[in-house]
Amino acid sequence: MADSSSGVTAQVIRKANMADVPAIQALVNHFAGQRLMLSRSLSEIYENIRDFFVIEKGGAVIGSAALHMFWADLAEVRALAVAEGYQKQGLGALLVAACRDEAVRMGIKRIFALTFQPGFFKEMGYSLISKDELPHKVWSDCIKCPMFPDCDETALILELQQPESETPSSMDGQKG
Ligand SMILES: CC(C)(COP(=O)(O)OP(=O)(O)OC[C@H]1O[C@@H](n2cnc3c(N)ncnc32)[C@H](O)[C@@H]1OP(=O)(O)O)[C@@H](O)C(=O)NCCC(=O)NCCS
Repeated sequence: MADSSSGVTAQVIRKANMADVPAIQALVNHFAGQRLMLSRSLSEIYENIRDFFVIEKGGAVIGSAALHMFWADLAEVRALAVAEGYQKQGLGALLVAACRDEAVRMGIKRIFALTFQPGFFKEMGYSLISKDELPHKVWSDCIKCPMFPDCDETALILELQQPESETPSSMDGQKG
């Protein structure tokens, strides 16, 4: 996958594998300890490892994000974290773009995020929505959260463009 390096040691963004799980958990739970995001158990990350992208530098995981499918047209970006010392260098944007590209490939039409960083997601093109607009299925996860029901995360959504090949062809209007 793409190499986003500008330094001596390359930063590589790629799909995660089982060996990354302890490092992903340490990264996410570091920020969860600061109440910036939700904590994740090892079991939850292992079970959902195919959702995850990581950014690796010098063998260390310095960024993570996951795209979790909810319904035929809906997915969530979650567990987004960039290690302190590597923030404000475009890596968060790279992770969110990787999730967006995968969503497009999968035929997803909308991605949402529940976050304490709405400003970042607005920069990424997401728009604020009311949490009530999210389908009930989303709340099956929320019920397990220690913050439920007093969650003060903000909901944002990104409507995805269909790829060129799936938009109505210019030939369509020329039949008959
Ligand atoms: C939020 C986070 C992932 C952003 O990652 P990052 O690598 O620092 O972000 P980027 O450098 O890719 O920033 C992309 C753009 O968003 C802006 N941005 C970054 N964080 C922002 C924030 N909190 N609020 C508003 N804008 C923000 C940047 O200025 C940049 O804008 P620019 O392109 O105009 O310069 C990172 O700060 C982080 O891991 N924070 C701790 C964990 C956390 O809060 N995770 C989110 C849970 S949903």
